[in-house]
Amino acid sequence: MLRLEQVSKIYGDGTRALNEVSLEIGAGEFVVILGKSGAGKSTLLRCINRLVEPTAGKIFFEDQEVTALDGKRLRAVRQKIGMIFQDYNLVGRLSVRTNVLSGALGRTSAWSALINYFAKDEIASAQHNLERLEIGEKAGQRADQLSGGQQQRVGIARALMQKPKIILADEPVASLDPATSRTILDILRRINQEDGVTVLCNLHLPELAREYAQRLIAMKSGEVVYDGSGEGLTPRVVDELYGLEKTV
Ligand SMILES: Nc1ncnc2c1ncn2[C@@H]1O[C@H](COP(=O)(O)OP(=O)(O)OP(=O)(O)O)[C@@H](O)[C@H]1O
Ligand SMILES: [Mg+2]
Repeated sequence: MLRLEQVSKIYGDGTRALNEVSLEIGAGEFVVILGKSGAGKSTLLRCINRLVEPTAGKIFFEDQEVTALDGKRLRAVRQKIGMIFQDYNLVGRLSVRTNVLSGALGRTSAWSALINYFAKDEIASAQHNLERLEIGEKAGQRADQLSGGQQQRVGIARALMQKPKIILADEPVASLDPATSRTILDILRRINQEDGVTVLCNLHLPELAREYAQRLIAMKSGEVVYDGSGEGLTPRVVDELYGLEKTV
């Protein structure tokens, strides 16, 4: 469903963040991308929906060349791609419900959104998603009154409003404690298994990556250095990835 062909990214200052990365991700896969800080994980995810513009290479999503699209057709592809961020990216002063509803903006006209008018079925769908993530009772609260784990659930509920085919999660648990991290990763795994949504999740801890990856892709200096099962991530590979800064 997703194919990268020799994708490279060189930022304006000359930093080579991705170096001819080629990958194929099948529908329904749960893929963890592991690598230490600066390896190129975020750049890779952001190239997929062109939040970052690749310098070279092609990206195909459901047989459409994303790298060749613009305007309306790019927006249509982005609509199928849910994003989840380390810092949740919620609007703190708005209610949980409104934050979740903003995930449906692709379907709501700008005018309706401006006057905060969302169709009844969107409101019901937002509540359903919140309840599914067990924070239905928080719908009316300000987003910034929630704990980190709860805020990330809101972030996931917002992504679900898009009815995404794929979820790109950029270090979704980097700001959370180990127990809460597992709760969030369990939720992503459930969405993957129950809804068949493909998940691409960046992590920097080998231990969590090994535990959750159905397929694990390890990156170093903008290149894929391992692509296989979680169990195949041997101490030797981890050593190569992290060197002396190894964290596990
Ligand atoms: N906007 C930018 N301009 C210039 N260089 C950048 C930019 N964004 C990222 N980089 C550089 O590109 C490389 C890859 O960065 P990226 O953020 O993709 O890594 P990462 O694996 O996500 O790291 P982290 O675990 O710290 O989030 C790094 O050397 C980084 O400094
Ligand atoms: Mg990153």
